[in-house]
Amino acid sequence: MNAALIDVATRMPKAELHIHIEGSLEPELIFALAQRNGLTLAYPSIAALRAAYAFTDLQSFLDIYYAGASVLLTEQDFYDMTWAYLERAHADHVLHAELFFDPQTHTARGVAFAMVVDGIHRALADAHQKWGMTGGLIMCFLRHLSEEEAFATLEQALPYREKIIGIGLDSSERGHPPEKFARVFARCHELGFHLVAHAGEEGPPAYITTALDLLHVERIDHGVRCIDDPLLMQRLAREKMPLTVCPLSNIKLCVFEKMSQHNLLTLLDAGLMITINSDDPAYFGGYLNDNFVAIIEALPLQRQHLQQLARNSFSAAFMDEGIRQKYLHQVDAFFAA
Ligand code: ADE
Ligand code: ZN
Repeated sequence: MNAALIDVATRMPKAELHIHIEGSLEPELIFALAQRNGLTLAYPSIAALRAAYAFTDLQSFLDIYYAGASVLLTEQDFYDMTWAYLERAHADHVLHAELFFDPQTHTARGVAFAMVVDGIHRALADAHQKWGMTGGLIMCFLRHLSEEEAFATLEQALPYREKIIGIGLDSSERGHPPEKFARVFARCHELGFHLVAHAGEEGPPAYITTALDLLHVERIDHGVRCIDDPLLMQRLAREKMPLTVCPLSNIKLCVFEKMSQHNLLTLLDAGLMITINSDDPAYFGGYLNDNFVAIIEALPLQRQHLQQLARNSFSAAFMDEGIRQKYLHQVDAFFAA
């Protein structure tokens, strides 16, 4: 039974809405880019780096994730990283991918903003040309930095406005509530960007509420801690607010101890608009289909749940209505066959 469901999940058309492109940097590519750029890493080998991927919480991961991203210097580096992810996504039947990127991680090291955006965007354009894949870039502000620094990053982004579909908020959640960024998000809204924010990954359900009420986001990234607030859960269901859930990430970062304890099926059955995503696939043990395999093996998912998850991924995406309808028909045709 599981094998049949896994076969369906891995072949079904799907969108990925929560992937930090710097989190797709595999250790092999980190070492290759370090060599290309004449950099020496703190780890003696690929195996030693991979062995360090034993995280206890979000911060323990972020420390290694930012170190890994330090090998990215040129436009070609950002292209190569993004292309490697897009090839994996294409193999997983991802038809639409929205990519988070963290410009502050790079500009703080003296890398020009243009290198980052142009490299990632060029890879997405090539994926569109080669496979018809659609997608977009979502620029994240690092929430452990100040709102003033976020405003400065927004200024740098304005010449690249056409290459960025949305704005997000990531990095260390606890102690950095959404309200810290209310004014810069209001400005991003005026500029016509789509808005999302990480909330309720490690932080309390109150951060989900303030992301909705003060940042006016259109999706919540993670959001699984909403389970602690039944009224908030009802609200998320009523408002059809998408939650971009990342199952393998939640296990690796100890949000849940075991996949069998993950609440995504409870949330889905309660009517919340849950989507499945890989977050930082190179660090958390797998890409999008690996996440589907892991949840099918641990939770009593049925075929109709998979259809709902595939539909939700397109329903929650930032895309033209005509394209959305085309993708939704593709999902329904797949499940009718
Ligand atoms: N940056 C990359 N991955 C992240 C995550 N899971 N939470 C917050 N910030 C991140
Ligand atoms: Zn994330």
